[in-house]
Amino acid sequence: MKLIKTKAELIDALATIRGNIALVPTMGALHEGHLSLVSAALADGSSGSNSDDLVVASIFVNPLQFADLGDCDDYRNYPRTLEADAKLLESAGVDIIFAPDVEEMYPQGTPEIWVRTGEMGAQLEGASRPGHFDGVATVVAKLFSLVRPHRAYFGQKDAQQLAVIKRMVHDLDLGVDIRGVPIIRGSYGLAESSRNQHLSATDRENALALFATLSALRDRQTDLEQARVELSHAPGVDLDYLEVVSPETLQPIPWPPTAPALALGAITVGGTRLIDNIDI
Ligand code: PAF
Repeated sequence: MKLIKTKAELIDALATIRGNIALVPTMGALHEGHLSLVSAALADGSSGSNSDDLVVASIFVNPLQFADLGDCDDYRNYPRTLEADAKLLESAGVDIIFAPDVEEMYPQGTPEIWVRTGEMGAQLEGASRPGHFDGVATVVAKLFSLVRPHRAYFGQKDAQQLAVIKRMVHDLDLGVDIRGVPIIRGSYGLAESSRNQHLSATDRENALALFATLSALRDRQTDLEQARVELSHAPGVDLDYLEVVSPETLQPIPWPPTAPALALGAITVGGTRLIDNIDI
C-alpha cells in the first residue's frame, strides 16, 4: 500500500497501470460504512496476484463543501485521523491512499471555476447547507481528473450526493461508472454514520424513529402526510424534512408512488443532525 500526498506522485504511480482503477472518495474518520465501499470496490475488480486492477481511496476534508468555504467550526473540528485511517485501509486491501492537503488540492485558494449542481443540489440537504453539493461535485470532479477511475463508490446513505454525482457524470460525460453501496445499519436499523458517536443512549433510541417511519412508508403502513405528523411528534425528534422523491431527479413524487421511489428524511436528535433513506 502506498500513501501519496501530492498530485504529481499520484499521476506517476497511476501512469503504468494497465488494469481498471476503482476510486473510493472519503473525508477520512473511517467507519464500517466506508469499509463497505472498499469491500465493494475490491469485490467488483478482477482478483488474484496477477490482476492489474487497483483500488485507490482518497482522504481529503474538502473545505468547499462546508459552510463559509470551511471558515466554520464544523470544518475546523472535523476529525482528522490519517494514521488510523491508513491502517484500516491497508488491512482492507486498498492499494493507494491519496491524502493531499488543502494547498495541494487548491494551490490558488478557492477555485474560480466550480461544478454547479442547480436545483438538484439546492433542495433537501442543500436547503440547509447552501453550496454544499457544488463543493462536493467540484472536488469529486477533480478527484476523477486526477485518478481517472473506471468505477467510483459512494454510500447510498447520502442518497442526494449519489444522485448528484451520477447526474454530473451523465451531464459532463465523465465516463466513470458510479456504484452506490447499501447502507450499513446497526442495532434496530440505525444507519451507520460518523455523527452517531455524538448520540447519547436516549438519543440513539429516539433516532430510531426515522428508520421506523421510512420502513412504515415502504410497507405502506402509513401515508406521507401522516408519517410527517407522527415523526414530528416523536420524542426528542426535530423533523427537518420527510419526502418521497424520484431516485434519479430527486423531484417529489405524489403519494402513493406508482414507480420505484426513494423516501428520505432528516431529523435532529440531541443536537445531532441525521439523515436516512429507503427504497420504496
Ligand atoms: O461523502 C463524502 O465523504 C464526501 O462528500 C466526498 C464524496 C468524499 C467528497 O468530499
